[in-house]
Amino acid sequence: MGEQVAVRTRYFDEELLRAVAEGCEQVVLLASGMDARAYRLDWPGRTRVFEVDLAEVLAFKAAVLRNAEPACERVEVPTDLRLDWPRALREAGFAPGAPTAWLLEGILYALTPEAAHGLLDRVTSLSAPGSVAAFEHLPDNPALRTARTAISADMANLWLGGPEGEPDRWWGRHGWATQARDVREVAAAYGRPAPAAFDPARAGSGPGWVGTARLPRTE
Ligand SMILES: C[S@@+](CC[C@H](N)C(=O)[O-])C[C@H]1O[C@@H](n2cnc3c(N)ncnc32)[C@H](O)[C@@H]1O
Repeated sequence: MGEQVAVRTRYFDEELLRAVAEGCEQVVLLASGMDARAYRLDWPGRTRVFEVDLAEVLAFKAAVLRNAEPACERVEVPTDLRLDWPRALREAGFAPGAPTAWLLEGILYALTPEAAHGLLDRVTSLSAPGSVAAFEHLPDNPALRTARTAISADMANLWLGGPEGEPDRWWGRHGWATQARDVREVAAAYGRPAPAAFDPARAGSGPGWVGTARLPRTE
């Protein structure tokens, strides 16, 4: 799991900075958790990074990072993704008319297919043409289950699968064009080993992807 997280971290860093360079001045980290990109990345001026997570998680993070300076305009959005979070996001200053770079990291696989599509519906309804969404797609497999169980019983039950099938198809259903890349291929491009749970040479492994979806600009 650690190897996969290392690969996705760099991939998402690069894709978010690319999206901002392409014109997305607002970034939304959905289920941001302890994501430190607002502090860590070299954002161009005027970038606003919205961090959406539960209030107690954001409060814990704010306490830990009280002496750190964000490298952008960082906006906390304490809300529950099961409730009316689009409203909370708009009230925090999000501009639905402007293109957005979204990050869905460490969240889709913890949702049922229906809940994941519900989340994508809401992301789509808030996205102006030219918006970008970086995501991962990690169908469960025996190696991942073994790794989770070794961490804790709660972790073992976390995987609900997310959307089913190829990412191109499920993003396509919401009108987005997708480029998904095999986790192994991205790891190799970074000079890293294939994460074990996604290495076909290992018993119990399965496929995994990181990818970027784009909502076409209208002419
Ligand atoms: C696996 S962590 C991912 C964190 C971060 N995106 C990353 O990859 O490092 C999942 C996050 O989802 C958040 N979360 C879980 N349920 C949520 C809910 N109903 N509403 C908002 N956030 C939620 C948790 O607080 C946690 O920070």
